[in-house]
Amino acid sequence: MNDLTTIFPTPAIPLTPVLSKLPLNKKVRGKHTTASLLDAQSILHISSGRAGIALALECAKVTNADEVMIPAYHTDSMIAPVRRTGASPVFYRVKSDTDIDLADIQNKITPDTKVVLVTHYFGFMQNLIPLRKLCDTHNLILIEDCAHTFFGSLNEIAVGQIGDYAIASSMKFFPIYDGGLLVSRQHSLDGITLHSPPLTFQIKAALNILENSLKYQRFGLFGKILGGLLFIKSILWQAKKSISNNKRSSADIGPASADGGYGLDEHWIHKFVSWPSNKIIARTDSQELVRKRRENYKEIVTALIGLPGCRPLHPMLPDGAVPMVCPIYVDNPQKHFTKLKLLGVPIWRFGEYLDPEIDETLCKNSVELSAHIFQFPCHQELLSDELDWMIQTIKTQFEQ
Ligand SMILES: Cc1ncc(COP(=O)(O)O)c(C=O)c1O
Repeated sequence: MNDLTTIFPTPAIPLTPVLSKLPLNKKVRGKHTTASLLDAQSILHISSGRAGIALALECAKVTNADEVMIPAYHTDSMIAPVRRTGASPVFYRVKSDTDIDLADIQNKITPDTKVVLVTHYFGFMQNLIPLRKLCDTHNLILIEDCAHTFFGSLNEIAVGQIGDYAIASSMKFFPIYDGGLLVSRQHSLDGITLHSPPLTFQIKAALNILENSLKYQRFGLFGKILGGLLFIKSILWQAKKSISNNKRSSADIGPASADGGYGLDEHWIHKFVSWPSNKIIARTDSQELVRKRRENYKEIVTALIGLPGCRPLHPMLPDGAVPMVCPIYVDNPQKHFTKLKLLGVPIWRFGEYLDPEIDETLCKNSVELSAHIFQFPCHQELLSDELDWMIQTIKTQFEQ
């Protein structure tokens, strides 16, 4: 969390999915037809996407003698797992539409290169066939960063199908507190040992999921009963805090990823996802999730297209794409960001803080994307009046 977040009000509508009904129905897995990372042969439900990258690098046996290629358009949580191994991150360029610059990757391969990490941004998949060939030629491990693409396919190739390993950030697609995936369609993950999170964290995860829903009035009258539970939670937490004399470690309180931080906690790399988050993922109707996200995306793009001072980064939604957010290129971000945030519009800015090594010479497009792309939510749990309100507020702001 940066300092700026403290001056903005809580978003008026949820930035990420919130639970709107208790997951009492039985498992609905198998019902979906859209490709998903859950279709992989080997799947581990872990605490976060960054833990997934850390575990994939462990599987690849990366050491401090190696180089790991990372896109210049990134977030710190993609780099922290590389630094943990002692390997050197080497940044490669992306194009103005976020496609990878294959020629730049090729130019930067050295005898020390061991891994290439590639990101499918915002739910739009990269064409990985040429990169796979390049990796095979140079004997490199390919990690697909699917933090933004839990679902989807491109030209009939499923998400996570091409990489040696793929990781996901389940929290971005499901109404849960913690969660990520490490999957592989090529390798067994049997060698990885994981532990369950402590009971205190399991309870915290359940209560935080409910708390977030109540913040956005998702349970009506029933919410009042749940409110009582949350009151108990705050008392329990206060008691725990005083017993432990305020010396709480991340092992007790949970991974930074669950609260929106960028850090990588050693304690949470080899942990399973919490039980409540896991249950919700298993009981989510994926087909409906995919349908709603695509529908909301199209509604936002149709409404914002042609507005002065901004344009959708991807005006067309390809058939197999399942958007995480709706990325909008804004000509004058300084003029609009603070005003929209003060009005309560949720905005996510992936790549806002790039590694100090990234400048215009290294990758002009990353610097520009970092400053100009606002991402608005299009998730399945947005109510139609919330979506209408967000669209109308954005339109009014840009028409001024
Ligand atoms: C592209 C990308 N990769 C990896 C991550 C790390 O995911 P997590 O927050 O689940 O650790 C993020 C987080 O925002 C991300 O945007």
